[in-house]
Amino acid sequence: MSLRIGDTAPNFTIASQKGEITLYDWAGDSWVFFFSHPADFTPVCTTEMGRTAQLAAQFEKRNTKPLGLSTDTVEEHVKWIEDVNDTQNCDLQFPILADAHHKVAQLYDMIHPGESETAAVRSVFIIDPDRKIRLTMTYPMSVGRNFDEILRVIDALQSSDRHMIATPADWLPGEKVIIPPSVTDAQAEGQFPQGWEEIRPYLRLTEVQ
Ligand code: BEZ
Repeated sequence: MSLRIGDTAPNFTIASQKGEITLYDWAGDSWVFFFSHPADFTPVCTTEMGRTAQLAAQFEKRNTKPLGLSTDTVEEHVKWIEDVNDTQNCDLQFPILADAHHKVAQLYDMIHPGESETAAVRSVFIIDPDRKIRLTMTYPMSVGRNFDEILRVIDALQSSDRHMIATPADWLPGEKVIIPPSVTDAQAEGQFPQGWEEIRPYLRLTEVQ
């Protein structure tokens, strides 16, 4: 059975090119951007790994640790990372799990036999510091992920936790947010003293910092 939003992220211990990783210990108080890719030494994956490495400061700003996975070995990861750094002009420092025996890929349902019997698809799990899965995305092997969107959803999740709000379509940090319908106007007065714009009784927009 596949993992769903709200589920506890299963813990695991497995090798990476940065040494053995036990998810819960390694994550500590951070959020985790856990993402799988089909294979080392492949073109789309090389660009995705490079992009993640280039965005290291952006992930750090959001208290989020990137964690990659592919069904290859530590030795292959180490050689491939040299290529990633060379071709993508980066310095990849985050761990990539070496899941050659599919232990974690099976646990997180990352192998979709319609795509491949042996390689992981492009799964994303955003895991919060309470170890809850807060967002999942699944991309096919042929489509590289949009890393602006990955940063945006982390921003949206963290903002919704901080302010108890929801975010509208295409929201970006700094834009107006939504007061959830579960919050009555009387409650909203205490929670949002800055006020709000009521477009419909169920659609109220406000500003948060
Ligand atoms: C790639 O990363 O380029 C890739 C991997 C597996 C299938 C297709 C593309």
